[in-house]
Amino acid sequence: MSSDLSKKTSEVLRSTTYAGFLLEKNWKPLIMVRAEGVYLEDIDGKKYLDFSSQPSCVNLGHNNRRITSAIKDQADKLTYCAVGLGTDVRARCAEKLREVLPDSLAKYCFTNSGSEANEAAVKMVKTYHRKDGRTKIISRYNSFHGWTGATGQLTGNARRFATETTGAYPGVVHVPDPYCYRCPFGLKYPDCGVACADIIDYTIKNEANVGAVILEPVTGASGVVVPPKEYLPKVREITEKNNVFLIVDEIMCGWGRTGEWFAVNNWGVKPDMLTTAKGMSGGHFPVALTATNDTLANFFEDNWLPVSGTFSAHPLGMAAGIAAIEEYQRGNLIAKAKELGRYLGKRLEEIKSRHPSVGDARGLGLFWALELVKNRRTKEPFNSGEDYLEGRTLTVQKVARKMMEMGVYIYTGVVSTVIVSPPLIITKEEIDHGLGALDEALKVSDQEAIPD
Ligand SMILES: Cc1ncc(COP(=O)(O)O)c(C=O)c1O
Repeated sequence: MSSDLSKKTSEVLRSTTYAGFLLEKNWKPLIMVRAEGVYLEDIDGKKYLDFSSQPSCVNLGHNNRRITSAIKDQADKLTYCAVGLGTDVRARCAEKLREVLPDSLAKYCFTNSGSEANEAAVKMVKTYHRKDGRTKIISRYNSFHGWTGATGQLTGNARRFATETTGAYPGVVHVPDPYCYRCPFGLKYPDCGVACADIIDYTIKNEANVGAVILEPVTGASGVVVPPKEYLPKVREITEKNNVFLIVDEIMCGWGRTGEWFAVNNWGVKPDMLTTAKGMSGGHFPVALTATNDTLANFFEDNWLPVSGTFSAHPLGMAAGIAAIEEYQRGNLIAKAKELGRYLGKRLEEIKSRHPSVGDARGLGLFWALELVKNRRTKEPFNSGEDYLEGRTLTVQKVARKMMEMGVYIYTGVVSTVIVSPPLIITKEEIDHGLGALDEALKVSDQEAIPD
């Protein structure tokens, strides 16, 4: 039971501030006051295991002291200067990034959120192709790329529908996904020949004027879709042959989440552009990155770059970025995510076998999802994108609420998945604790499932 103080604070928030991505009347926030490691604490002193790193963001856990100290030290020296002036901390952050990013990426543009990082990426492509008109961007249906004008349109999932009639951003073409559980072509891997990659070649040729393909190497909020192993290398080959930039959105799947520094490393793919945010500071400061290859870097030597903002390359964000990379390295967290991920995956498969409402368990590293279904044989989903936009309570939300009652936070994807993506510092015992709550909470969806 929430205290009166909790209810009062919640009501102040509800009546005076927006949450977004829901019907505001449905927002009943719990009030968090502090956090440490893998735990959050609410205003009544109740603790919650963070089983999803919030939206796959606090990869290093909450309130990492080395990062908060780095931010404080930087704040004592220099809190702000215009992006056109240089700072030593920005140079150090760039050098640190070079240690860990794919080596195809030569130059870095800093912004403040994932949406901005993707805005910057597509704006750079459109500027590069301004004269030859190849300004179309291919994206995928089962994707989320942000909430702003351009990125809302790049997004393929239900979140796009709410704004699409404004026609905010022309020239985005969506293609089907490497979503084997619900193959959009009705095919089966490996006999499919990875048709979901070939469709990109087909679309580039038939659309003409395509400048870039943007994709999440492992889809995040739309349900942790891991492509078959041939997919990304094939897409890289197709984009190269067609002279089209490949932008990988690693805002959620980057920073060790999949057991590699960046998800593309799982398949040895070198992108032309990489965007990231979230884990870049482990959520300690809003900072984001658009990294480009040297073709783009060279182009903007002599062509005007229409990208930058007041808070770009903010010194506190740069300090947080350096400290975060040092923390990933110090804790050997990337290798740890790979190892613990195997355990997590095995346990989730066991959970799947016990629950009729779990249709699929899939993931890589410490990035997993359970897709909930009404019927395992027909794969009929509990909910649709329309339910989500109409503000009906989704089955995954009921499961998440039950888990919150048991003191475990879990993030729900759009619209049928619960996403298990804990901080990379989590222990095996803490994973067991979170899975125990998930196992129990799934009884809620089991009750709504129709047995085979
Ligand atoms: C893959 C992906 N791209 C872009 C974004 C947008 O990032 P932000 O919320 O920082 O603007 C998100 C946010 O969850 C994301 O998961």
